[in-house]
Order: sequence, then C-alpha cells, then structure tokens
Amino acid sequence: MTAALPAPAQRVLADFRARHGTLPEVLVRAPGRVNLIGEHTDYNDGFVLPLAIDRAVWIAAAPILAPEIAVHALDQGEEATLPLGHFAKGGHGWTEYLRGSAWALQEAGYPLAGWTGSVAGDVPLGAGLSSSAALELATLRAFAAVGGFPWDAPRMAGLAQRAENAWVGVNCGIMDQMISATGQAGHAVLIDCRTLALAAVPLPADHVVVVLDTATRRGLVDSAYNERRAQCEAAAAHFKVDALRDVSPARLAHEAEALEPVTRRRARHVVSENQRTVAAAEALRRGDARAVGRLMDLSHESLRDDFAVSSEALDLMVRLARHAPGCVGARMTGAGFGGCAVALVEAAQAEAFVDEVARAYAAAAGRTPALYVTTARAGASVLTRTELEALDA
Ligand code: GLA
Repeated sequence: MTAALPAPAQRVLADFRARHGTLPEVLVRAPGRVNLIGEHTDYNDGFVLPLAIDRAVWIAAAPILAPEIAVHALDQGEEATLPLGHFAKGGHGWTEYLRGSAWALQEAGYPLAGWTGSVAGDVPLGAGLSSSAALELATLRAFAAVGGFPWDAPRMAGLAQRAENAWVGVNCGIMDQMISATGQAGHAVLIDCRTLALAAVPLPADHVVVVLDTATRRGLVDSAYNERRAQCEAAAAHFKVDALRDVSPARLAHEAEALEPVTRRRARHVVSENQRTVAAAEALRRGDARAVGRLMDLSHESLRDDFAVSSEALDLMVRLARHAPGCVGARMTGAGFGGCAVALVEAAQAEAFVDEVARAYAAAAGRTPALYVTTARAGASVLTRTELEALDA
C-alpha cells in the first residue's frame, strides 16, 4: 500500500495524481544525514562516519517530450519550469539545486530527458541535516530513472557536490552527498574522503541515534566555513603535505610549534578527529557503544575549543544530553554554529532521554527544540510505476 509510505511521499503522489490524473512513472527518494563523528575532516581528505536518516526528499516524476523539467515544490508552494541544455545562473532558492544538478549531469556528458514532477520532503531546512544534498541526489535520481541511464551512486555524489560547489556556490566537501547516495540501512558508513572507499559499520542494536535540533539556525556559516578551510590549507602547506590527512599526531606534536596558535588549534582538531573517527568505526564493529560515545564527547570538545565552530545553543544541548538518562555520548553535528547535535542513547532509555532533554533545553534556552530518534536508511532509491501499482493493489 502506498499508504505505508512516509508522509512526504504520500503528498507528492497525491499532488502528482491531482495534476496528471495518474500515477507517476517513478517515485524517487534521497535521504538527509546525520554525522556520528568526523567533522570538518572531509575537505581535509580525512574520514567521516555519517548515516543516512529516515527523513528525505521525495520526487514523483514522469517523462515529458519537452526539453525541460516542470516541477511543483509543495513545501515552498511554488512551481518552476527549467529549460534543459542552456543553463543560466541567477535563479532562486530551491530551483538552483535542481538546475545545478542538471547542469553537472550535462557537463559530465549524461543525456538529459525532460520530466514533470512534484517534490516535497521532511528534512528540516538549514538545520545541518543536509536537505540540499538530499534535493540534489533526488534530482539526479529522477534524471537517471526518467532518462534510463545507470545509477552509479558514488559518481552521482560527486556530481551533486559539483552542483553545490560550482553552481550553488557553497564550498562543501563530499560527505553529505556521498552518504545521501550510498547510505545503508542499519549502518553508519565510514567514508575515506581521499580514496572514497566506503565501509558500512553496523549501529548497535541496543542503542539509538537521537537528533537534537537546537532550533537555532547558523548565521555567517559560509564565511566561517571558508575561513576554516583556508586555515586547514595553510596548516597543510606548513607541513608540506597535500592535506591534513597526511599529518600524524606525532608529527603534529613535534612540528606544530612554528604554527601560529589559531592555525595550530585548527590542525589539532582535524588530526585528532581523523583518529577518533577511525577508532569510532572500530568500536562500532566490536559493538562497544560506550567507546563510541566517549569519542563523540571528545569530538565535541575539540570542535568547540580547537575548531571553534560550536555555539552556545549547541554547547547547552550537548551538556543537557550528557546528563539525561541513557546517554553514552553527544556532540554537535554538521558544519556547526547552530542546527543540530547528535547523541547515542541506550534504546531502553530513549523515551526518557528525549523527554528530559526537551524539557531541560526549553527551560534553559527559552526555545522549543525538535528531538527525534532516527534510524539509518539506504541511500537514494527509486520505485517504478509497476512497484507503486503493486503497493496500491
Ligand atoms: C557541511 C559540509 C560537509 C562537511 C561538514 C562538516 O555539512 O557540507 O561537507 O564539511 O559541514 O563536517
């Protein structure tokens, strides 16, 4: 039954039916993500350990003859028709993610077929859960399904990153797009951001991942993000390596003296975070949730003190989470400066944990947070019309 699909999937199906009087040819989904550990390491050729979450962008689409995509964005209450083939910048908001994805596909030599569709999602915007990567991957998945070219998930993640970097103009690393493309149900994925090697690691069955949205949105994040990148590059140049990935903790300890103190702290975060991330993946493999939690705690401290990308709201949320029932570790997640934290919590205590953190945060911050237990899901996927009909039967 399509009734078993999540709410945004139902909404795009209903909208598509209302507009076209029939089922779409394809229903595509691309998830948001939460990063368990490995922050600000992706653009240093390092390691990240994110999971694709149960919140996603959905597109119901069918091919059309015209060389364009005609899209109804339900969450924005807007429609746009984007011509394919000659792309011009200067569009606005959500349309730029679609246009940029189409442009990146064309640049890479993929044939672009036109489609019409409806799009909606439940990844909160600007919260640091990668709603834009989800929209990019959903767009690419729709083009692949409608145009009939094979889906190469890591390759598509690279094109989505290109769309974000070169079209939208955000200088992000590969993490968000890669996990939205290659997520695995029940697993976090250790991504080596240099080789793009992927290793799925099982999440502990007796613990849950909880997303803690501070209900604050990051200001000035782009300029601060670019500044951090520049500082990391300066540190790599000091060590005469391609990226901070190549600096060992021992080398950092011996040779960081000559670095200017701020750059030294930035480098210390990246070098230690890479170690923590690899150690966390190993701890997950042996089912040691407590060790993962301790590494998450250390990651937060490093992001707060050395990398300076936390915020008062994130520090408060993390502090309250650590004192709540069943918490084994908590940290800010994503770029920082606002948005979400993530906690690893004993499954049996999940409800008490959420109640307690929601109450304590609202009381201390005077703001209502959004807290949810999430589960790890597969990366971008597609249901064909035949599969939808079978669900409906
Ligand atoms: C944002 C970027 C990612 C990554 C994180 C920080 O989410 O899009 O590429 O750099 O920040 O870890």
